[in-house]
Amino acid sequence: MKEFLQVLRRFVPPYKKYLVLTVVFNILSAVLNIFSFMAIMPILQILFETGGAATAASAPAAWDWGDLKASLSGYGEYYVGRLIAGFGATTTLLVIGLFLAFMTFLKTGAYFLSSASVIPIRTGVVRDIRNQLYRKITSLPLGFFSEERKGDIIARMSGDVQEIESSIMSSLDMLFKNPILILFYFSTLVIISWQLTLFTLLFVPLMGWVMGRVGRKLKQKSIKAQGLWSDTMSQVEETLGGLRIIKAFCAEEKMNRRFDRINSEYRENIRRVNTRQQMAHPMSEFLGTLMIVIVLWFGGMLVLGGKSLSGPTFIYYMVILYSIINPLKEFSKAGYNIPKGLASMERIDKILKAENDIKEKAHPVHVKEFTGKIEFRDVSFRYGEKWVLRHVSLTIEKGKTVAIVGQSGGGKSTMVDLIPRYYDVQEGEVLIDGINVKDMAIHDLRQLIGNVNQEAILFNDSFRNNIAFGVDNATQQQIEAAARIANAHDFITESEHGYDTNIGDRGSRLSGGQRQRVSIARAILKNPPILILDEATSALDTESERLVQQALEHLMKTRTTVAIAHRLSTIRNADEICVMHEGQIVERGTHEELLALNGYYKKLNDMQMS
Ligand SMILES: Nc1ncnc2c1ncn2[C@@H]1O[C@H](COP(=O)(O)OP(=O)(O)O)[C@@H](O)[C@H]1O
Ligand SMILES: [Mg+2]
Repeated sequence: MKEFLQVLRRFVPPYKKYLVLTVVFNILSAVLNIFSFMAIMPILQILFETGGAATAASAPAAWDWGDLKASLSGYGEYYVGRLIAGFGATTTLLVIGLFLAFMTFLKTGAYFLSSASVIPIRTGVVRDIRNQLYRKITSLPLGFFSEERKGDIIARMSGDVQEIESSIMSSLDMLFKNPILILFYFSTLVIISWQLTLFTLLFVPLMGWVMGRVGRKLKQKSIKAQGLWSDTMSQVEETLGGLRIIKAFCAEEKMNRRFDRINSEYRENIRRVNTRQQMAHPMSEFLGTLMIVIVLWFGGMLVLGGKSLSGPTFIYYMVILYSIINPLKEFSKAGYNIPKGLASMERIDKILKAENDIKEKAHPVHVKEFTGKIEFRDVSFRYGEKWVLRHVSLTIEKGKTVAIVGQSGGGKSTMVDLIPRYYDVQEGEVLIDGINVKDMAIHDLRQLIGNVNQEAILFNDSFRNNIAFGVDNATQQQIEAAARIANAHDFITESEHGYDTNIGDRGSRLSGGQRQRVSIARAILKNPPILILDEATSALDTESERLVQQALEHLMKTRTTVAIAHRLSTIRNADEICVMHEGQIVERGTHEELLALNGYYKKLNDMQMS
């Protein structure tokens, strides 16, 4: 319960006013309900001519708040009596009926408004949690997102948030509506007849306990059935994957028997669940009737035995008693709904409360430009246990192009990821113009750097917005100029809506080379002094590689570039080429120097020549 209130306190405050509204409307609907059914009493009195209404000729002396019950019935009887005297009993019945209808209209209206005012809270809280999750996702460092975590986060965003909505937020309704209804109805019962109410109270806990037991058993069983269902499905999946082997080993019959076994077990379970489910309704009806019978018996004794309860009042009592059953049931339901939602909340909090370990210093150094050099000073790095970079030192002077080559898995991408601080080094330091990147304002640091990667990452948006991604309020001229330099202008203008053409999910409507040129245009528009190219042309065929290479050369012209390359031909002209091997720079120099060394680079070169 405490955790539940904490969740409410965290997310509900912005929607306080709706909470107030729902409480107000709930009170209104409870009160209206109580009063509307009061019309039953004169109706019964008229029908059975039990006196009262027909005979009350004079109004009570004065309205007495202290004896509300007497005042109400006194005035009621007086006016009903006058109606009957004036218009006859039949017309009076109609009038009272219309009064009942009108009150019910008001009551159901208030009921609707109370439920309707919970909806903005439910939907708002769910939206807020999703937004918070999304913000957290964009703020957490890359290192947080391993493959398994990605699937996890999607599940949090969809399933768990949904679960919170359906369990916690629907409990909101239960918690703010039902106690109010119960309180009002119960007070009414006490006012009508405290003896009868006391008697009834003895039975309610017993009924509740029996119903609760049935519900809990049902839940356990249905959880088990769910498990068996997923076993059944995974066996089908396995079979589809292994059909070739099943046939080759003539194991069809064997597999059929195996499937039948689990399928039958599932059936047996679901049979029991369904049977129990079918039992719930008759049982609650039976128990309800039983309760009514017992109350009838006791109330009947009160009615017949003397003055403490009249017949019509007793019927009214029963109606209110009936009204209280549903809120009671729903209220108890919240008890096993809430824990499910809390479990989801806990899983969501694993993300919301995850620590961001790439932090900015309290007073970071603000940098506006790049003037000198990038330096790796004796850098070692590991993702987990295994060191991926060991004692790497490298200096990249402004305006130069440094290439990194080597076999895959050697640590090239990891090395360049350290410059924009996607990861923090464990040993050594990465410096830009002599300032440790850990001391810089992260935003400033990343503003200096442009990226073009092997896999061009584009968004489901227009060409224009994809190119202008890193720049606010870029003009059409600037965008076009960037696209021209990137050799992208022609194919963009040839597309259906030009720059406004949507490129599809992740650029799926474009070829690899086109995607890459759009991403280069994006880097050109951002105009960063430092450029990181991570196998920018590796995934392309020769024709588009030529166009992309051309575009890249325009881009590199005035910049400091770190280029990771798979094909050596693309970096032959680099000022310096480093060969990475198992986390270390094993050779460095110009193309000719490295060939002359006759080592790793020569071997790589020969491999690609043949
Ligand atoms: N996010 C990561 N988490 C854990 N290990 C990683 C991660 N990224 C890369 N690695 C590992 O680090 C090593 C170097 O990878 P990488 O820098 O991508 O090499 P390269 O770019 O030279 O192919 C590889 O063994 C790779 O499996
Ligand atoms: Mg790589």
